[in-house]
Amino acid sequence: MATTKAPEQAYTAEPFVPDRADGLDGLREAAAGCRGCPLHRNATQTVFGEGTAHARVMLVGEQPGDQEDRQGRPFVGPAGKLLDKALAEAGIDPGEAYVTNAVKHFKFTQAEPRKRRIHKAPTLREMAACGPWLAAELALVEPELIVVLGATAGKALLGSSFRVTEVRGTVLEREIHGRRERLVPTVHPSAVLRAEDREGAYRGLVADLNVAARELS
Ligand code: URA
Ligand code: SF4
Repeated sequence: MATTKAPEQAYTAEPFVPDRADGLDGLREAAAGCRGCPLHRNATQTVFGEGTAHARVMLVGEQPGDQEDRQGRPFVGPAGKLLDKALAEAGIDPGEAYVTNAVKHFKFTQAEPRKRRIHKAPTLREMAACGPWLAAELALVEPELIVVLGATAGKALLGSSFRVTEVRGTVLEREIHGRRERLVPTVHPSAVLRAEDREGAYRGLVADLNVAARELS
């Protein structure tokens, strides 16, 4: 007898995303109930973007980490602290920035309950599933510039062939979700924290953010 393979379940946040008339607050409230992919099951809560709808620059990270998952806010852990410092050095006012992630739920592995939760990179499928939230944020904020923090954000916005080392610190212009966007890619702040030459990696991040700052001035 022929066996039939169950069709791959399509993961998508699409049915959960409200009308743009509801604004950023409406998006945030709706995202709290998103079940668009399996990542909501083990995470504590949705971590939506933060910042004003008038932000000139949107910073896009990968996904919330352990601290972000607990507190429900993006970039409040060690990577966020480092990012704040680098932004200040580049002269980018955090008050002018909208900060978000490509994926809104924390993905992790845990050897045993109560053991440390270890970050796990989201798959392309999960990034695609969560994409409608990022698209909705972009449509409402309409930033002048997007700072792409690392490979996951790059793949989510620019496609799976994105390589951060090839384009970091340059200004790209691309059509994304029907809008012409300007983007400056750089490394993820967590990669700076893990780097052997941490000071050098940090200087590289600041140099890329300087490119973004110049575009905004
Ligand atoms: N890393 C990210 O990519 N995003 C966060 O919000 C925190 C850490
Ligand atoms: Fe929805 Fe994104 Fe969370 Fe998946 S990761 S459940 S698509 S908010």
